[in-house]
Amino acid sequence: MDRITREAARHGRSVDEITSSRRLRRMRKADWSRRLVQETRLTVHDLIWPIFLVDGVNKREPLPAMPGVFRLSPDLAAQEARRAASLGIPAIATFPYVDLALRDQIGSHASHPDNLINRGTRAIKDAVPEIGVITDAALDPFTDHGHDGILRDGIIVNDETVDQVVAAAVAQAQAGADIIAPSDMMDGRIGAIREALDSEGFQDVAIMSYATKFSSAFYGPYREAIGTSGLLKGDKKTYYLDPANSDEAVREAEQDMLEGADMLMVKPGLPYLDIIHRLKETFAVPTFAYQVSGEFSMIKAAAANGWIDGERAMLESLLSFKRAGCDGILTYFAPDVAEILNA
Ligand code: PBG
Repeated sequence: MDRITREAARHGRSVDEITSSRRLRRMRKADWSRRLVQETRLTVHDLIWPIFLVDGVNKREPLPAMPGVFRLSPDLAAQEARRAASLGIPAIATFPYVDLALRDQIGSHASHPDNLINRGTRAIKDAVPEIGVITDAALDPFTDHGHDGILRDGIIVNDETVDQVVAAAVAQAQAGADIIAPSDMMDGRIGAIREALDSEGFQDVAIMSYATKFSSAFYGPYREAIGTSGLLKGDKKTYYLDPANSDEAVREAEQDMLEGADMLMVKPGLPYLDIIHRLKETFAVPTFAYQVSGEFSMIKAAAANGWIDGERAMLESLLSFKRAGCDGILTYFAPDVAEILNA
């Protein structure tokens, strides 16, 4: 098209006439003006680093589906916690790969005072008391069927599971956990954990509810990391949320708030930005996203193939959580991001 034809396509009107001189590109013209109008920022203070624990000393086991992520023995976890704290990362969340011999049908080892989670917490807290430690009270690392609850006749029994999750939570608080984050999605767990923590003198231990945890395909690499993928029979649809449901997510979050949750979490992250936004608008409480293992692996795999710029994709995905309303993000990228943000 020549100039005359292009102008004709606008029916002779200039762009200034069309836009009434409102040109949104004005503020995008230079780095200084883009920085000036930037609405959302990602900082190191937004990061929670999930790490995997394994028994032993000086052990660092790579996870093939999660390049750069390792299972760490408690001593090395403490070292990494020291590094995280010096990078300014506020908190660490631990997930144990439990010896298969210690797993049973009811996850009885979950409440053992010296289980791997609790030894990890003590090692981290002894070495780095200033970092926050978040522990998951779900039973899946401890059951021999990989479910988050007690399995009886093909059913995950709710109330009995709650008792077990509560016992695990109290043991975690005794070991020094600052925040209990139950990811099992049993009804009533938040209130039951709150009551037990309070009656044991742990009024200051907070609860971050995995309030809206969806039955998702994105947990695959995590299940490898904690050794549940080979064990899991069936799926978790009778307790996790249906990815199709948003109103139900609000009800779940509301119930957890009523029972005493201090913070809400949405999991997975990027496919559920609408849920994050809704929860933040509805409840106006500290809201977190878990950028789960599958989300991490997708970015890593595409970057390894040269299909995307991994660093930019990582930063953009994390910024999106902030824009959607998150106060913070659990992400396996945490130390990498912190290094970039601190540079
Ligand atoms: C289960 C649990 C899951 C994750 C953490 N705790 C999901 C599952 O295995 O069903 C997923 C975390 C991730 O994928 O990074 N209580």
